[in-house]
Amino acid sequence: MQQEKLLALFGELSLEEKIGELFQVPPFFFDGGNATGPAEEMGICSEDIRVAGSCLSLIGAQKLAQVQKLHMENHPHHIPMLFMADIINGYRTVFPIPLAQGCTFDPDMTEKCAAIAARESAASGIHVTFSPMVDLVRDARWGRVMESTGEDPYLNGLMAAAMVRGYQGQDREHIGRGKVAACVKHFAGYGAPDGGRDYNTVELSERTLRQDYLPGYQAAIDAGAALVMTSFNTLDRVPSSANAWLMRQVLRKEMGFDGVLISDWAAIQELIAHGIAEDALQAASLAMNAGVDIDMATPVYIKNLKALVESGRVSEALIDEAALRVLMLKNKLGLFENPYKDASEADEQSILMCESHREAARSCAEKTFVLLKNEEALLPLNPEETVAFIGPYVDSRFISGAWSIFGDDDSCVTLREGVKCMVPGARAVFAPGCTLIDPGVEIVGFQKNPPRETLDPETALAEAVRLASTADKVVLVLGEPRDYSGECASRSELTLPKCQMKLLEQVCEVNPKVCVVLFNGRPLDLRQVSEAAQAVLEAWLPGTEGGSALARVLYGLESPSGKLSMSMPYCVGQVPVYYNHMRTGRPLLGDYRTTKFCSQYLDIPNEPLYPFGYGLSYTSFAYSGVTLDRASLHKGETLRASIRVTNTGTRTGTETVQLYIQDVAGSVTRPVRELKGFRKLTLAPGESGQVTFDITEQMLRFYTISGDYASEPGTFRIFIGPDSRAEQQAQFTLT
Ligand code: BGC
Repeated sequence: MQQEKLLALFGELSLEEKIGELFQVPPFFFDGGNATGPAEEMGICSEDIRVAGSCLSLIGAQKLAQVQKLHMENHPHHIPMLFMADIINGYRTVFPIPLAQGCTFDPDMTEKCAAIAARESAASGIHVTFSPMVDLVRDARWGRVMESTGEDPYLNGLMAAAMVRGYQGQDREHIGRGKVAACVKHFAGYGAPDGGRDYNTVELSERTLRQDYLPGYQAAIDAGAALVMTSFNTLDRVPSSANAWLMRQVLRKEMGFDGVLISDWAAIQELIAHGIAEDALQAASLAMNAGVDIDMATPVYIKNLKALVESGRVSEALIDEAALRVLMLKNKLGLFENPYKDASEADEQSILMCESHREAARSCAEKTFVLLKNEEALLPLNPEETVAFIGPYVDSRFISGAWSIFGDDDSCVTLREGVKCMVPGARAVFAPGCTLIDPGVEIVGFQKNPPRETLDPETALAEAVRLASTADKVVLVLGEPRDYSGECASRSELTLPKCQMKLLEQVCEVNPKVCVVLFNGRPLDLRQVSEAAQAVLEAWLPGTEGGSALARVLYGLESPSGKLSMSMPYCVGQVPVYYNHMRTGRPLLGDYRTTKFCSQYLDIPNEPLYPFGYGLSYTSFAYSGVTLDRASLHKGETLRASIRVTNTGTRTGTETVQLYIQDVAGSVTRPVRELKGFRKLTLAPGESGQVTFDITEQMLRFYTISGDYASEPGTFRIFIGPDSRAEQQAQFTLT
């Protein structure tokens, strides 16, 4: 619809209709085309629903078409609804969790996955996805780390932009066929809750917020994200949904966001529990004045905004501004021309989980696995040797992340199926009843949990150990039940369940040739696992094609190439732990056991067990020294840093060559090093490749003592290597 026509339509809307655009119908309210269910309990009446602007979590081409049709018939101006849902790492075809996708260091791959998720969900009638989640994460206790692409602002930014492009396409004006609008979340700083406890207070200095946390959101906004979602947490003691400075000054003015701002689920209502609003009326007033356009899934706006306008506490201009933004989003999606957009039962039949989508899921999963340890080249497995597959996840289909709410677990490929199908001749044996050692944890939530045990765990354990003793090698598949990570899934322990550790111990006693494969949604404390097992492969929660991808990597049809997107802590007492931490006045330079009066622990090292960027391959790579094409850099120039990488092993492999920079002295303390670039290089045995990074003055900017985003002259160190501990270095001066 042309802008003029849209404005003319807008001019005809009553105040109630405009407020309706800001109201989102909670899930589970529609049966067929009619609103039912708990609406009445929430005080929502049919008049409210008649003018509602959007609806949450309703899916299915047929259903949505029905709801849309009825809605438009009932609406005084026949305005279509927006259908929004959480399509996080896939819709029906489920891709690896975002934390795992971060480990690919491959934004193009992530863009492809997002495009498939868009195509599938659009066919089911969805218009908006609540993704990407770009919260920077440093604390593995927080269950939502699985939704983020990790602890690095630069990598997060690339991944965020890739997801937005995948969902929305390249066209900035229209969100076309097979595309959905992206909503970047959770603005802002949600990834840093105190103690790693979900929804808890966030304490960040404004400098840290700007320097480390905002770039991810900014990258998504710059890529054109149509919506932003507020976060549940407070920042400087103000809940985001009432934070006018954050929303109006930072988000809109400084970051240049002009799309729709939606609250997180019930976050406006929660201003009461936060203790900054006495009632829903005040909560609505605070949120609207702060600039929150849509109230997600509660009646706070629809029940209070009119009274607030009438009493002068909220200006009608603010309502107009917000409602017009919602209409503009509908227009961008083409809903005035075609309110059903891509909803099509025929497309649902033909594309949901079609072969090419599954293929993409498999290929992505293969690249997310991180090989943490591989002594005596235990991996890859040889199809000729007898390998015993043991453990609770060998036969598990619950290997998709907690947000795969529209996926179909029954269609997930298990590891056993993957081995049988991908390596048909392999002499693999499977422990009977190996699913039965699962801890079978009951967690309150909307996810289905793994089936309960039906056999005596001791019998299953004895069987597993017996089988291990007869095999050449053991693949022991352990991990966390998938509901251990995700929303409201914070943990105080980062170790594996005790029954799994017992299994590991007993299996290692009878056969030392053990490879532990891990399914989990967060970095774990793997000290004991890593000590006991000869090989450790982190598989995360790989989704629909997890089992086939894993079988191919275990048997060497693909070499692992994933690099950790988040540090694996030494133990829980160390978190938050991240590679790009600040320097201190007393850095620990030696061994913590023989050093005193440094920034250190008495009982553990400062370093994580496995650092950010780390990951092995089935081959090995050697790095030459770093060469620079000049010793100093001036504004407007480019300095080139090069390194030669050689495959010194016997198999072809892909290395992610990483560039880190350290600002030796700034007007404020600078991180020990920061990722500034990376390149993927696939090399045959004996082959070498030259990698060159262009370094410009812009890459050296930061929030200086005066608050400006600028670079400062001085010395900089460059490190290039296979992970965040990269040793090869050189230095230059910025003049
Ligand atoms: C989560 C959001 C999500 C929303 C809608 C909230 O509880 O924090 O990430 O998008 O629910 O499902």
